[in-house]
Amino acid sequence: LSWKEEAKKRVAAEAVGHVKNGYIVGLGSGSTVAYAISNLSRKIKEEKLDVLCVPSSYQSSFIAVKEKIPLTTLDEYPILDLAIDGADQIDKKLNLIKGEGAALAREKIVASSAKKLIIIADETKLTANLGLDHHVPIEVLPFGAKFVLNRILKSGWKATLREGKGKVGPVITDNGNFIIDADFGIIKDPRELEMKLKNIPGIVETGLFIGMVDLAYIGTKAGKIQKLEKK
Ligand code: 5RP
Repeated sequence: LSWKEEAKKRVAAEAVGHVKNGYIVGLGSGSTVAYAISNLSRKIKEEKLDVLCVPSSYQSSFIAVKEKIPLTTLDEYPILDLAIDGADQIDKKLNLIKGEGAALAREKIVASSAKKLIIIADETKLTANLGLDHHVPIEVLPFGAKFVLNRILKSGWKATLREGKGKVGPVITDNGNFIIDADFGIIKDPRELEMKLKNIPGIVETGLFIGMVDLAYIGTKAGKIQKLEKK
């Protein structure tokens, strides 16, 4: 495995170490979370734990089912003990950009339902400034996609409708919506940007996760884990 995959595995194991018997656990999405799901499956079997999980996407649901992890829903358990998720960018204040896997809306709901949110990522995701060489994924209602795109472009930013792979035309999210990738450059005030975006009709959710993270484990190239905690 490459150092990155090793790092992802390492932080996934560290996060799963927080899961206790009786926990209801929110599962994020992406390749790092996939390691956490496999690790959690092993832990549940070995320690004979009574744990239920709420997946944030078809991807994490399918992996969890394959790994024989019992699943539940937010309807049954609206409060989760813990959520584990990945990130595309993370700054020192533990603010995030997420949504490369187009699962950001459900991920944000799962993360917001959890008493504790742990983020796992390799060190390439660490940044001094959110938005530096990175776009922000935004989930939009198909009906309003062109309207939202024009609003963002008119404000002087760059934005494109995300095209699908394995399908012609736009990416369709698990919620039946589209994704706009918007480039805001360096984001000085992520909370303010989030508020501005949320005021545009048609925007369902943004990939900005502000002030939500309790703990982040960052896997380094040197084979270590950097722990970042909410202040
Ligand atoms: C999906 C996400 C993922 O958590 C994010 O893209 C990180 O994925 P990976 O662990 O594969 O790098 O936000 O919407």
